[in-house]
Amino acid sequence: FGRQLKLLGVTSSTQEEARRLAEEGAPSGTLVVAEEQTGGRGRQGKKWFSPPYKGIWMSLLLRPQRPLSFAPQLTLLTAVAVCRAVRKVSGVDAGIKWPNDLLANGKKICGILIESAGEDERIKYCIIGIGIDVNVDRDEMPAALHDIATSLKMESGQAQNRAELIAAVLDELELLYALYEEEGFAPIRHLWEALSVTLGRRVAVKTAQRDVNGTAEALDESGALVVLDDSGKKIMIFSGDVQLT
Ligand code: BTN
Repeated sequence: FGRQLKLLGVTSSTQEEARRLAEEGAPSGTLVVAEEQTGGRGRQGKKWFSPPYKGIWMSLLLRPQRPLSFAPQLTLLTAVAVCRAVRKVSGVDAGIKWPNDLLANGKKICGILIESAGEDERIKYCIIGIGIDVNVDRDEMPAALHDIATSLKMESGQAQNRAELIAAVLDELELLYALYEEEGFAPIRHLWEALSVTLGRRVAVKTAQRDVNGTAEALDESGALVVLDDSGKKIMIFSGDVQLT
């Protein structure tokens, strides 16, 4: 991954740039990295704060020869890869909030946005967007983020090398992707569980259908979060927003 690389100074969003390259036929593994995004996007239509030189704002194009149902597992695989890379390079004790936010001390340090295009139930391509708050200082963050976001520099007490982090993320992604190809989702699921800060916790989940309050019990073999709600019913969450309460 990343052998085809597009490095940009400022762009609106690396997701858009990667999508354009994908539509032009760029090969699987193409990586777009920007120093700054003016229109960085998060999940659920939120904006993603992407100041210049302080973070990792990148999108990886993959063309998995798999059905569309692979996308949720790819989401979890990516979270494991980024979490392992961040821990290895910075020493920060990062954990995963289902499905793919990385938290340190309860605050977000990384967000992952996966967008897929399909054709006849097969994946045409996936764009894995990864945003890591690397060297952002507290006074550089919008006040609205102070209680919910942090950076690797703030958590480790020292500036981190972004190039080294990008290389580590790509290495881990390649490794886990190969593991998935060989052994399927089970080993990825176990790695995810070991890095999770969600399992065993009380959660409030908002899904398109309803709100669920209960305890996060497990990750099932498809990647869904199993929540035991307050009436004792098991509920499978396939997509939604989880708050740790
Ligand atoms: C989230 O947690 O809501 C996902 C955030 C994803 C941010 C990254 S930064 C690189 C890529 N380009 C974007 O516009 N978004 C993703």
